[in-house]
Amino acid sequence: MKIWVPMDSAAKALGADEVVAAIHAEARARGLDVEIARNGTRGMIWLEPLVEVETDAGRVGYGPMTPGEVSAIFDGGSSLGLVEELDWMMRQTRLTFQRCGVIDPLSLVQYEAHGGLAGLRRAIDMSQDDLIDEVKLSGLRGRGGAGFPTGIKWDTVRLAHADRKYIVCNADEGDSGTFADRMIMEGDPFCLIEGMSIAGIGCGAVQGYVYLRSEYPDAIAVMRRAIELAREAGILGENVLGSGHAFDMEVRVGAGAYVCGEETSLLNSLEGKRGVVRAKPPLPALEGAFGKPTVVNNVISLATVPVIFEKGAEHYADFGLGRSKGTIPLQIAGNVARGGLFETAFGMPLGEIVNDLGGGTASGRPVKAVQVGGPLGAYLGTSQFDLPFGYEEFSGQDALIGHAGLVVFDDSADMLGMARFAMEFCAVESCGKCTPCRIGAVRGVETLDRIRAGDGAAVELLTDLCDTMESGSLCALGGFTPYPVMSALKLFPEEFGAVREAAE
Ligand code: NAI
Ligand code: SF4
Repeated sequence: MKIWVPMDSAAKALGADEVVAAIHAEARARGLDVEIARNGTRGMIWLEPLVEVETDAGRVGYGPMTPGEVSAIFDGGSSLGLVEELDWMMRQTRLTFQRCGVIDPLSLVQYEAHGGLAGLRRAIDMSQDDLIDEVKLSGLRGRGGAGFPTGIKWDTVRLAHADRKYIVCNADEGDSGTFADRMIMEGDPFCLIEGMSIAGIGCGAVQGYVYLRSEYPDAIAVMRRAIELAREAGILGENVLGSGHAFDMEVRVGAGAYVCGEETSLLNSLEGKRGVVRAKPPLPALEGAFGKPTVVNNVISLATVPVIFEKGAEHYADFGLGRSKGTIPLQIAGNVARGGLFETAFGMPLGEIVNDLGGGTASGRPVKAVQVGGPLGAYLGTSQFDLPFGYEEFSGQDALIGHAGLVVFDDSADMLGMARFAMEFCAVESCGKCTPCRIGAVRGVETLDRIRAGDGAAVELLTDLCDTMESGSLCALGGFTPYPVMSALKLFPEEFGAVREAAE
């Protein structure tokens, strides 16, 4: 009997390791021989720990499993049915996450058996020109949030003259409600390694770094082990898969500052300096790590590259909406009945994501707002639920999709309090380099406190302050903090004025 239990940290936080111990104990008591394999999560976090039993028909799921209920697995108790046939799985377009939750994350044999390395093998035989054209043709854009075309960034690095170039993976996933980077690093780490190798070959870089946050100890351990295994198998090193190209990589651990997810601050931290934002230009693509041309890409951007080369750029570009091509791993969190990761083509309406996939709020109360794109993302109300999920569609509403994290709030949410939280967050996390952010965020908290206390004139001051922060800040932390503040004010003005009226 073969049983799969996820080793993903979300599943472990929900008791996966205790379930493994209970399965072993139950099997011993019954005198049964059981093989327990560890996989990543499928992304249905509300079903974790999701135990899967191999049968002739496929893998049958039991979840959320508790140590006290493991006897059901042996007694043929009521299961969820075939995991692949669950509605959540059937409705997805799994390209980037095709193997996540399916394979043992550290088995290269299983990785290859499920399409792994096919992309790298194809890329090796291409010229750098053709390789980068393939990325351009796929329409892939930066999944960290900014949506800059990946192929153009790679081309800038390729064309730069330098004795050394670098591929840096931004794994400092800091947005609230996001976990796609962690999930793929823990569930399919070779995919990221393969994507970085392809980037290295395409841009002429021989060294890569994964800048990973210290809050992700499991992802750090899995990535480090996967890099060792890839090196032993000749996927990394002096001669990548016998191609004559050299590419190697290592994990560097950040100390946990939100601003170190900003690429120039990340590069400073990577170099062992304080994580302060650098002015751009020069772009990292021309002067990045250690002053050399550097590709800085998010985990999901790089982990999507192998499937583009495996299945072809046109296959990838066929999915999506307008200039938002391909798929996006939506991360649904907050006050929601079914939280998890759902990979789908761009274009799904916001309301369908929240109400249909997410099942509405966990509290059962009406949805009030959804914050999309992390703590710097705008709040969207139910009147905007027809909005399709895409870069341009969201920016047209003064919103952003960011890293595709959605945090749901019910009607008990205090929106003035949430606006204050955004300013407070910015004040705490500011690197201090520029005035609009360093001083502005502190003044923003004070101004919101004045509004709370009934000072109506302070609303105009808040609007002015947000204008200044948006246009005058050096990076997205100060520049985007006005999004949650102004969207909360625009959507729920009565919460900013009701107190004032009472005071008057
Ligand atoms: P940006 O628009 O300044 O730059 C995007 C990327 O394109 C950068 O890597 C930049 O170096 C590159 N680039 C721009 N012009 C280029 C050119 N001509 N040639 C080559 N490369 C070029 O945006 P930024 O400040 O890097 O990121 C802001 C975004 O980060 C926001 O949209 C936000 O959603 C997201 N974000 C994500 C977080 C996460 O946890 N994933 C956390 C906080 C913010
Ligand atoms: Fe630093 Fe804030 Fe200025 Fe960004 S906006 S450079 S975090 S002070």
